[in-house]
Amino acid sequence: MSKLMTQARMMTPMSTGSAPSSKPAALNPSGAATTAPPSSLRVRPIPGAYGWPILGPISDRLDYFWFQGPETFFRKRFEKYMSSVFRTNVPPCFPFFAGVSPNVIAVVDCKSFAHLFDMDIIEKRNVLVGDFMPSTSFTGDFRVCAYLDTEEQDHAKVKSFAIDILRRSSEVWVSSLLSSMDVMWTTIDQSLSDHGKASYLVPLQKCLFNFLCKSIVGADPASSPHIAESGYAMLDKWLALQLLPTLKIGVLQPLEEIFLHSFAYPFFLVKGGYDKLAEFIAKEGGEVVERGQVEFGLSSEQTIHNLLFILGFNAFGGFAVFLPSLLSALGKDTAEVQKKLRQEVRQKSNGSTLSFNSVKEMPLVQSFVYETLRMNPPVPIQYGRARKDFLLSSHDSVYEVKKGELLCGYQKLVMRDPKVFADPETFVPDRFTGEKGRELLSYLYWSNGPQTGTPGPSNKQCAAKDYVTLTASLFLAYLFQRYDSITCTSSAVTAAEKAK
Ligand code: HEM
Repeated sequence: MSKLMTQARMMTPMSTGSAPSSKPAALNPSGAATTAPPSSLRVRPIPGAYGWPILGPISDRLDYFWFQGPETFFRKRFEKYMSSVFRTNVPPCFPFFAGVSPNVIAVVDCKSFAHLFDMDIIEKRNVLVGDFMPSTSFTGDFRVCAYLDTEEQDHAKVKSFAIDILRRSSEVWVSSLLSSMDVMWTTIDQSLSDHGKASYLVPLQKCLFNFLCKSIVGADPASSPHIAESGYAMLDKWLALQLLPTLKIGVLQPLEEIFLHSFAYPFFLVKGGYDKLAEFIAKEGGEVVERGQVEFGLSSEQTIHNLLFILGFNAFGGFAVFLPSLLSALGKDTAEVQKKLRQEVRQKSNGSTLSFNSVKEMPLVQSFVYETLRMNPPVPIQYGRARKDFLLSSHDSVYEVKKGELLCGYQKLVMRDPKVFADPETFVPDRFTGEKGRELLSYLYWSNGPQTGTPGPSNKQCAAKDYVTLTASLFLAYLFQRYDSITCTSSAVTAAEKAK
């Protein structure tokens, strides 16, 4: 034990890290992990423990949800063990998650996290949200793409289908996003003038639902008034029921522990809404559904439920978390960044209709988007199971991982790794501009792969890696075409000065 502590003291904890380097020299340029560790690194046992059966997991669960919250939970253990790789438990656990193992190996630095992208050593079967998997009744009794491992044949079929949908949809994507944003911001303007404050969550979710249905499913919600009005809320409930056991909500404790984290809620509570959405896709998205069958060899039902998952979980769920954090970052403007963004947008777009190509010419807008993803990765945890025994390298040590062990990468710390990002705790809007900024994109991991990577059937990187950042860039650029400045929080706009 004392030997371990001596070794540990020689390491650099992230929060008190050595002088930040401006260059991520410690990693290989692609950001990809290699299973062969540099020989200079010491092999050491993975610190941390799972504790007594039942008691250990419960104590960790209470820390995670109640006494500490996820960020402090990982940070405290990282500091305690003085290691960016350690053993711990993550929820859910006892009493009604009997078959679920809470034991994980946490990885919280850029180098160890990147092992999660190496499909030779990592298996992704059923581990989207950890060892716990929501019932497949939430997805039409199918294991949809996000739960499939790259070695399963259906993964390549559905992933290729998703990539094909995005490629074909680019024009509709931009035009329907822009028109849906017109509606959203007109609603917000109206509430602002009526009440002096406008919650934007519902208008934003309606905007997302509308534009994503058109772009991904080729279906216009306007053809079904009930879906147009309530489709977004059906998705919210469906998402919440699947994810509740793993999410800290912030309800008064111990009520949250007793009622939201102790058991999985059954699908029948949201079945009505889910079935309506599936019917809507089958009826209005006929062309896309047919392509799934004819070109990608999927059954009709498999296509519909995968489409609904991509639409509702991946796309709607992802943007519904990400865009509020983008607006919130804008609201915290301390360095006149709004002025600089506005100047760049107006100069580069020159009043013309925005497009993917026009926002690609806006380096500050794109950097602001990347920096938001770094500081607040919308999907903060990624899991992967060891396919075989392998050696896992962090910046300063090497650890033995056994086949079957579950890795849990906590991105909020990973993306603040001082060995990669200078001044890691500060939001630096132009961090990703210029040559050095471009180099850093190899270490931006929000999409379960580096921002310089290419999503494909042989990996598990987000199919929409580029669409997400371009969409968020369009969202920002639109804002600064429409307004001179905006005052907002993560849920409401309190002032918006129209463009003069
Ligand atoms: C802000 C929005 C989004 C975020 C934050 C996001 C994030 C992610 C992440 C982290 C993963 C990997 C999960 C894991 O295996 O651990 C993923 C996978 C995936 N995403 Fe996204 N995503 C977003 C939007 C989208 C959109 C618009 C699509 C539409 C096509 C999409 C399609 C997918 C698919 C199909 C996968 C599964 C990849 C595979 O199984 O190989 N995502 N996404």
